[in-house]
Formats: sequence, C-alpha cells, structure tokens
Amino acid sequence: RIRSVVRGCGSYLPERVLTNAELAGMVDTSDEWIVQRTGIRERRIAAEGETTSSLGLAAAKAALEDAGLTPADIDLIVCATSTPDYTFPATATQIQSALGMTHGAAFDLQAVCSGFIFGLATADKFLTSGSHRRALVIGAETFSHIIDWQDRTTCVLFGDGAGAVVLEAMEGTGTIADRGVLTSHLRSDGRHREKLYVDGGPGTNRKVGHLRMEGREVFRHAVGMITDVISDAFAATGTTAEDLDWFVPHQANRRIIDASAHKLGIAPEKVVVTVDRHGNTSAASIPLALAEAKADGRIKEGDLVMLEAMGGGFTWGSVLVRW
Ligand code: ACO
Repeated sequence: RIRSVVRGCGSYLPERVLTNAELAGMVDTSDEWIVQRTGIRERRIAAEGETTSSLGLAAAKAALEDAGLTPADIDLIVCATSTPDYTFPATATQIQSALGMTHGAAFDLQAVCSGFIFGLATADKFLTSGSHRRALVIGAETFSHIIDWQDRTTCVLFGDGAGAVVLEAMEGTGTIADRGVLTSHLRSDGRHREKLYVDGGPGTNRKVGHLRMEGREVFRHAVGMITDVISDAFAATGTTAEDLDWFVPHQANRRIIDASAHKLGIAPEKVVVTVDRHGNTSAASIPLALAEAKADGRIKEGDLVMLEAMGGGFTWGSVLVRW
C-alpha cells in the first residue's frame, strides 16, 4: 500500500505584530477580556501589498527547503484558503507560477478553518491513488482583509499567516509501513451558514464583505464536533489518547482547545498551542503550529500526531499522521 509521508513543513508570518493593547485603542475591548476569553495576546497582520499568495509562497518555499526538495519535485499543489487574492484564478496557481512551475496541477480548496485538514485528506487521496507523487499542501490566509475592524466581537480573534507541508507517496513497506497519513475524517453541515460567514461576494452584494460570527453559537458546537471526528480517528486506527505524541488542533480559541483535549483525555503537555501569538489564522493555523513544533524539536520522526479543525460551513475534520 502507498503511504503519504510528511517530508517537510514550513511557515511564514507577516512582520507586523498587532497587540491586544493596540486593539484596545481601536475598539471597546481590553487585553484582559481578550486573554481571558480566547488566550490570544497578539496576532500578525499582512503589510500593504502582502497577499494570501505571497504568504503561501513563502511558506511553500520554507516547506520545500525543510524537505530538501525543489519545485521540480512537486506535481500537486493544494492551497486551502478563504481569502484568495482573486475570486479566480486560484491562489494555488499563483503560487505554482511564482515557484516557476509549469507542470503538475494546482487548485484551491475552501473549507474555512478546516481547510488544511480537508486539503491534507484530499492530497493524501491523490497520492495513495498513485496519480501524483509529491504534494505541497498549503494553508494561507489574510483574514485582516475581511475583518470589520469596528466589530470588537470578531476583530480581536483573527490574524494572517501561512503554513505548508510536503507530502510524498512512498511504498508502504519496511520503516514506511506505519508512517504517513493513517486516517482522515471529514464532515460538514451547511445548515449552520449564518453562524459564521462573510456578508459579501459575487452572488450577494458583489463586494468583498466582512466576516460575521455568532461566537457563542460557534463555541457551543465546536467541542462536540471536534471530539466526534477525533474519536472516529481513534476508532478507525485502534489508537487512544495515550498513544498520541502530539495534538495539533486548529488554533481558534484556547478555551476550545483545552476543553477538547480535556474531554478526550489528551495530556496538556502534548498540546501544541500558538493561538496566544498568532490568533486564529483559519486554514493556516495547523501548518503554522506544525512548522513551529517541528522546528523546535518537539515533533520527531515516528511521532503520532493528531490534527483537527472546525470552522465555517460548518466544516470539521481530523487527520491522524505518523510523522
Ligand atoms: N471586548 C470586550 N467585550 C466584548 C468583546 C471584546 N472584544 N467582544 C464581545 N464582548 C462582550 C459582548 O458584547 C458581551 O457583552 P454583553 O454581555 O454586555 O452583551 C460579552 O462580551 C460576552 O459576549 P459573548 O459573545 O457571550 O462572549 P463569549 O464568552 O462567548 O466569548 C468569543 C466570545 C471569544 C467569541 C467566544 O464565543 C468564542 O471563542 N467563540 C468561538 C469563536 C471561534 O472560535 N470562531 C472561529 C471558528 S473557526 C472559523 O471557521 C473562522
């Protein structure tokens, strides 16, 4: 059996840091409120001229370097984003072109905060089918472009950034036999649209629009949905919370992360947290966290890593990887 093995990962964050104290000067909020409700202390904001594709390109280059590969080695690019540079063409094709590639296939995938999970699961199916050899899976977002900076209930939560992994199709024999993507579980339920959506687009008011969210409603659904798909992953592989080396959740809110880990019996020291410094970077949050935990030596070859996300749609999902 062919396995999709993680060969490398990388990330990129804009330089500009926006602190809670600065936000308190823009809307009626406080560092104390934001930290207590979300765990967020600061987030990064794209500079003028920085776009989702430029962030994604930087993350893709970092992932290729980490993998010791070049664009010539890649034949599939999946970019998860809800904040594309253009309605079309796809951000993935912009990144493909900026990498100097004219071969292979590149496309975007839109599942809001679950985008990276959906992207990883999709790329895994391409690789294990034998149709493609090496995939760049990118999560890149500039939510600062769709935030209503006058709305204190949302503008304190989000940040910009990008992360990427390189997956390679390898013959599942010998040491590769139990490495790579072990299982993935994707879900969606479109009845929840109005709880988290952007109030614009070609089919509505023809403007870019702003993110709108019923935060309490999202929170109410999040933990149950997350723990369901993780339980599915445990059941499919015969693994348990004790078997995990790392839990790398989508970074929306510290309280959602802690409640999910607690409900599943995942020890706090196994949880990778970046939300305090990145805020919610939507599809970028998981690969950003992976790149950080890989670079600082936490995630090592052979580690069992559980990834999960839940977001607009609603969409939600889990991917279990043996690194
Ligand atoms: N600063 C100060 N006060 C605020 C702020 C703020 N930034 N935002 C809201 N408040 C006020 C509200 O107006 C409300 O005041 P009221 O009681 O006088 O009406 C009070 O604080 C409580 O508001 P709630 O919304 O009930 O606060 P809650 O404890 O639910 O926390 C939060 C809000 C942080 C948004 C929480 O609901 C949450 O994290 N939800 C999940 C959101 C999320 O993770 N979304 C991303 C999903 S992923 C994706 O796809 C993008």
